[in-house]
Amino acid sequence: MSVVVGAQNVPKLKADNIDVVIKAMSLQEKAALLVGLTRDDAYFGLPSSSESNNKTLVDGAAGETMNIDRFGIPVTVVADGPAGLRINPTRPGESKTYYCTGFPVATLLASTWNTSLVSEVGTAMGNEVHEYGVDVLLAPAMNIHRNPLCGRNFEYYSEDPVLAGNICAAMVNGVQSYGVGTSVKHFAGNNQETNRTGDDVRISQRALREIYLKGFEIVVKKAQPWTIMSSYNLINGTYTQESRGLLSAILRDEWGFKGLVMTDWTGKRNTAAQVHAGNDLMMPGKKEQVEDILAQVKEGKLSEADIDICVKRVLEYIVKTPRFKGYKFSNAPDLKAHAEITRNSAAEGMVLLKNENEALPLKTGQKNIALFGVTSYDFIAGGNGSGYVNKAYVIDLLQGLTNAGFGVNEQLKNLYKNYMDYQKSLNSFDKKDFWAFLNKSMVPEMVVDKKVIEAMAQSADMAVVTIGRNSGEGSDRKIDNDFNLSDNERSMISNICNSFHAVGKKVVVILNIGGVIETASWKMMPDAILLAWQAGQEGGNTVADVLKGTVNPSGKLPMTFPLNYMDHPSSLNFPSDLTTDMENTTSENNENLKKDVDYTNYSEDIWVGYRYFNTAGKSVSYPFGYGLSYTTFAYSGAKITPAADGFTATVTVKNTGKAAGKEIVELYISAPKGKLEKPANELKAFAKTKSLAPGESQTLTMNFSTYDIASFDETTSAWVTDAGQYSARFGASVEDIKASVPFSIKKEEVVKANNVLAPAPGLTFLKLK
Ligand code: BGC
Repeated sequence: MSVVVGAQNVPKLKADNIDVVIKAMSLQEKAALLVGLTRDDAYFGLPSSSESNNKTLVDGAAGETMNIDRFGIPVTVVADGPAGLRINPTRPGESKTYYCTGFPVATLLASTWNTSLVSEVGTAMGNEVHEYGVDVLLAPAMNIHRNPLCGRNFEYYSEDPVLAGNICAAMVNGVQSYGVGTSVKHFAGNNQETNRTGDDVRISQRALREIYLKGFEIVVKKAQPWTIMSSYNLINGTYTQESRGLLSAILRDEWGFKGLVMTDWTGKRNTAAQVHAGNDLMMPGKKEQVEDILAQVKEGKLSEADIDICVKRVLEYIVKTPRFKGYKFSNAPDLKAHAEITRNSAAEGMVLLKNENEALPLKTGQKNIALFGVTSYDFIAGGNGSGYVNKAYVIDLLQGLTNAGFGVNEQLKNLYKNYMDYQKSLNSFDKKDFWAFLNKSMVPEMVVDKKVIEAMAQSADMAVVTIGRNSGEGSDRKIDNDFNLSDNERSMISNICNSFHAVGKKVVVILNIGGVIETASWKMMPDAILLAWQAGQEGGNTVADVLKGTVNPSGKLPMTFPLNYMDHPSSLNFPSDLTTDMENTTSENNENLKKDVDYTNYSEDIWVGYRYFNTAGKSVSYPFGYGLSYTTFAYSGAKITPAADGFTATVTVKNTGKAAGKEIVELYISAPKGKLEKPANELKAFAKTKSLAPGESQTLTMNFSTYDIASFDETTSAWVTDAGQYSARFGASVEDIKASVPFSIKKEEVVKANNVLAPAPGLTFLKLK
């Protein structure tokens, strides 16, 4: 392959001459542009790749795209992730640091149900991306919480696509407001980590459309992310990265996506199929992939026309980047201002699960709080793996309480400190190898002697107990000692509650977790439970703000907390310590081991989360959309009026209690009986009030279109909105409907869609009636 260097009339890339540049490019240059830049490989013989011979442009970024100097095509930089920018905090030979802000995890942000707040967080993240010289943030992550054990649920928003999609769109709009890109991931069906690169998701077209793709559809239509990241897994037998049905027919033709698709960080697969599918960029990139593209063209398996389409999309991306525009980044984002944003946003996503006899807020600045649980002293700011952020510090609960003017019991504090120092000295906790990066070990919970607890009940004012959990990409959580409390944690909570209650003192439990845990068997014991999630680097301060009542918690659950793990229908088909031998993640000849690992039957169909519990009338520990406040609210004047392409819902919310606070209103739609079985209630819109003073009211407005309330009929490959009488339900949670208003649709509406991604025949799916 010869490349003409220094030839006359070589066009320099500009926003308006992309086609001219493509015409002037050699096939080899085109192929190289579709594959991420690998600095380890001696580069592909392209004489023009000056930048590619040097070191990574931003230390610790996840990847880069290829430069071709003769056209003025620069290297661009992409870096994780969903809770903030992930780059290395230090660089060899430099004393300057490059810390980024550790924002709250996505699950917490979804619990705010506040799109403008999330967009503000996104704007702050976007600023760090911009100022640290990165072009695309590899976030937000949008997979559905199909099952509580997915190891990456903390990176994802919700079990519901309307909540997830709208929060995600707000995040994308925020980040991109800085002129940098996002990569909404992992498209699609990456709902488990066990064998994530080989698992085949076997699913109905309806569940795919209504549950697993819907959030992405909302984001594309509301925010046009610059890029989308295809997932590692297969759907119904085809890798998503090789699925033209998914990446072209649905994503581009139906939804109107204008950006580029990049793979997740995969090695070489079927390169021709990837390009033909519309997977424009293969990351992180291997030399063999470039060679393969060239070979595939030679063999007639890949057309240059297909390549040109992808090249065009890569160039359209490049001309938008700050790198292309020559932006001189400062390497000095305003971390102080962003810490404030983190602290405040986290407060709105904490969910008050229980507050008996107004145990919270704490009335006075208590000076002798017995602080239990190792994570109280080592707060978990966010999860592990590529979602981990290298932040400058984490405020733990001890520090947060102290900053807020509370005092803790010194003896107990010293006991924990000594124990934790010893555990950490065993050195298994900060290994630098790859698996340690993916899943950093936690210090095991300390066993607290009953006598110590009794002594604390005598001397301390009250008890605060933190239960902590962490997980990360590459593995799923377990049922024992993870979803369920360990025996030690259970007896710790019960001993503390018994001893403190015996002397009339309160116990507050803080859940510093990234995903759902079992609560039903112990929630009756403490006086209050605050679900703090993994709240970012200011976590301890935020929890203290809420305990003190400086902030009234206004988060609500973006997923169901079931009574038991097996209550989720997906638990029958999810790799867990009950259903699978987790040690054997692939198997040649044992059919039982292949299930949930080599393939996963999504037999629960559309019955994910509350759609199942609420429709089947199955009891839960805490329902979807649930969350308490330090005040109370009344709803009035609920109304539905026809609007241009659908309806407008309005309702007035009044603060009827004594503290200022915000309320989230959830709009569920119940459809008339039609051809398809439908959930009893489906979230279609939501809104949050401003902070209402006691006695103050606000009227909230929510819109939904007739398309928004359609169901996917796979027999006709169409979205169908049945004619008939519907009910709009204004809920404080899916199980706490405050007002129902009927409305009707006179004529059936049908929107045709592509018949793609069908499962092989023979799969059976759950029916509820
Ligand atoms: C993860 C992605 C991440 C990428 C780059 C992959 O292993 O699945 O979410 O963006 O690595 O770090």
